[in-house]
Amino acid sequence: MNLLILGRGKTGSLVAEVARERHHHIQIAGAKENADCAALTPENLRTIDAVIDFTTPHAVLANIEACVQAGKDMVVGTTGWHNEIPRIRALVEQHRTGFVFAANFSIGVNLFFDIARTAAAALRHDYTGQIFERHHIHKKDAPSGTAIAIQQVIREANSVGADAFVRPVERSETSGAAKDLEITSFREGEVVGLHEIVLESAAGRIYLCHDAKSRRGFAEGAVRAAEWLVGKKGFFDFKDIWREL
Ligand SMILES: NC(=O)c1ccc[n+]([C@@H]2O[C@H](COP(=O)([O-])OP(=O)(O)OC[C@H]3O[C@@H](n4cnc5c(N)ncnc54)[C@H](OP(=O)(O)O)[C@@H]3O)[C@@H](O)[C@H]2O)c1
Repeated sequence: MNLLILGRGKTGSLVAEVARERHHHIQIAGAKENADCAALTPENLRTIDAVIDFTTPHAVLANIEACVQAGKDMVVGTTGWHNEIPRIRALVEQHRTGFVFAANFSIGVNLFFDIARTAAAALRHDYTGQIFERHHIHKKDAPSGTAIAIQQVIREANSVGADAFVRPVERSETSGAAKDLEITSFREGEVVGLHEIVLESAAGRIYLCHDAKSRRGFAEGAVRAAEWLVGKKGFFDFKDIWREL
């Protein structure tokens, strides 16, 4: 494939390495080359099959808008924009492009989401829970997109209708909605990404942890998502498609 990688940072440069190893042709644009989306004109994108974005929460939305409006498929790893998902989904559907995003492109973390979904049942049996995340001091957003995704997976697992035997989870007194697990963020040294779920009752404690050892898993997941996207149209969350890779 002809891939354009946005971001020459810690993850973008690894994505380029993995893409080369998988025999793709790549171009890379960092902040300088892509100021005001200069690398994303229809002319520059003409020969590109898909664009992979690992930039910053500040830059990503303009990049997405430029690529989708030019009709290009995209894989977006950058976090910190997911409150805009409904608007971006509509844009992708309007322009009939292919789009995969992820809070986390590692296979291990996506399996961890499934484990969290199962563990969420504890909250219907007198357990309370918390989420902890640790990342390097350079990370720009907090809480991490992965921690928010874990929180969402647990919320959805416990929402009415998710289980025929649902018992009321902890309910907020005012809204009656299930309360989300609290997320606590730590920024320390060069930690790649550590996520913990702790579920606790008077009877016992469940402790679940995913500790990323390197960024390579993110890069491999993103490149494989771009390969998977060939010939597909629509807006996809990696956590729903990773088993198809
Ligand atoms: N979904 C996942 O699996 C996953 C995994 C890891 C990281 N992430 C997310 O991916 C993003 C990048 O993480 P990182 O650790 O690689 O950060 P990083 O090392 O700080 O790299 C970000 C890069 O983006 C470049 N950039 C900024 N604006 C740009 C623009 N308009 N066009 C092109 N490039 C631009 C910067 O270039 P300069 O150096 O020239 O300023 C920088 O090199 C973050 O949001 C992070 O949370 C997601």
